Amino acid sequence: MQQDDKAAKAWSGRFSEPLDRLAQRFNASVDFDRRLAPFDIEGSLAHARMLERTGILPAADLAAIEKGLGQIALEVSEDRFPWSIDREDVHLNIEARLTDLVGDAGKRLHTARSRNDQVATDIRLWLRSEIDTLIGILRALRGRLLDRAEAEAETLMPGFTHLQVAQPVTFGHHLMAYYEMFTRDADRLADCRRRMNRLPLGASALAGTSYPIDRESVAKALGFDGVCENSLDAVSDRDFAVEFLAAAALAQAHVSRLAEELVIWTNPRFGFVELADRFCTGSSIMPQKKNPDVPELMRGKTGRIYGALMAMLTIIKGQPLAYNKDNQEDKEPLFDAVDTLNDVLTLLTELLDGLKARPDRMRAALAEGYATATDLADYLVRKGLPFRDAHDAVARAVREAEKAGKDLAQLPLATLQSFSPLVGEDVFAFLTPEGSVASRKHIGGTAPVAVRAAIARARKAL
Ligand code: ARG
Repeated sequence: MQQDDKAAKAWSGRFSEPLDRLAQRFNASVDFDRRLAPFDIEGSLAHARMLERTGILPAADLAAIEKGLGQIALEVSEDRFPWSIDREDVHLNIEARLTDLVGDAGKRLHTARSRNDQVATDIRLWLRSEIDTLIGILRALRGRLLDRAEAEAETLMPGFTHLQVAQPVTFGHHLMAYYEMFTRDADRLADCRRRMNRLPLGASALAGTSYPIDRESVAKALGFDGVCENSLDAVSDRDFAVEFLAAAALAQAHVSRLAEELVIWTNPRFGFVELADRFCTGSSIMPQKKNPDVPELMRGKTGRIYGALMAMLTIIKGQPLAYNKDNQEDKEPLFDAVDTLNDVLTLLTELLDGLKARPDRMRAALAEGYATATDLADYLVRKGLPFRDAHDAVARAVREAEKAGKDLAQLPLATLQSFSPLVGEDVFAFLTPEGSVASRKHIGGTAPVAVRAAIARARKAL
């Protein structure tokens, strides 16, 4: 970062002494908001072209501005732009550099504009493109889940409640639950994008401008669906940042839930799945260890995104209209949340590719938890017993099986009949996990046919 003591400050004319050093560092945002440079340039070009169209800016000045901004874009992309903390933020850095390059035309760019509507525009342009990227990453993840679910449509595993074996499900069905979550996440991001996609420029500092500007044409040039209707709201609204972070927090919560399951499932006590070695780490002291660091970190990153959401909500709280410098604090939480979510979603997609299911281990767990007890109760109900009585009969049968160290299907017919005379020879077909899942074939059920149908519907929608 350059230090430029001749202080090319855009606003220093009013002051009798330079800004205190610490205050300068405290006030400056260029260290992080330089990330917005490509969007700042895009916005400036659209603004300058509108100024020229409306007769506010001479054609020669527009030509100079276009040329200068073109060179600046190149300098930024090649990482040789002379960023300076004396120029405070990304906007003033680019404007001052433009003036260095093209002279007075550069000084005319800021006509009918303020950094307040400029930054509000930049951040929307940036976030919009990040949302598009995230929706694309989510689409890849959802596609990967569909592929894995299809391959595991018949794989039996215990479904859990309270992390206790509950009923048999198929692994494909379990994976499809995450497909549903990530589909809602993509939807929420698209919804946030739609509401956010309006142009603040033209609001100027807060009250609009006395120049004969054409906001609609700038909105169109920048791909916005329209303009922000109220100038005070345009410069001060950060609702979209809260909405985005709330959507990001939910997506991250879903990542964290699956990550947690991977940690549990890879534990040798479960052994339901194996992660590819390229996603595991060893221990510096215990030679035998294969640790699920990657899913653990995916779970651990959740605090950052929840924290970003809390920070953003707090930033907007109690701000009087219109723009306040508090809003400069919107950037770092947004940047961090976007980068984190990008990483975890991409890694999760890769992780699922290298995930190996262990159907033998899933099946063994299924045999230990009386997972078909509900099926036995349903069987008795179909034979005419009221459900509560059936529940009680099966509960006693489970107690007996537990004493004998056996699964329900391993009890002799006579023993089962001692709990209800309604039990017949056909009962054993209902006590297998295959029979249990196959019978749940309605829409949303865990039967392989139902899972395949859900996958087919999802493929169509994706
Ligand atoms: N760096 C500022 C921000 O991020 C730009 C707007 C500053 N406007 C102002 N009047 N100080 O919000």
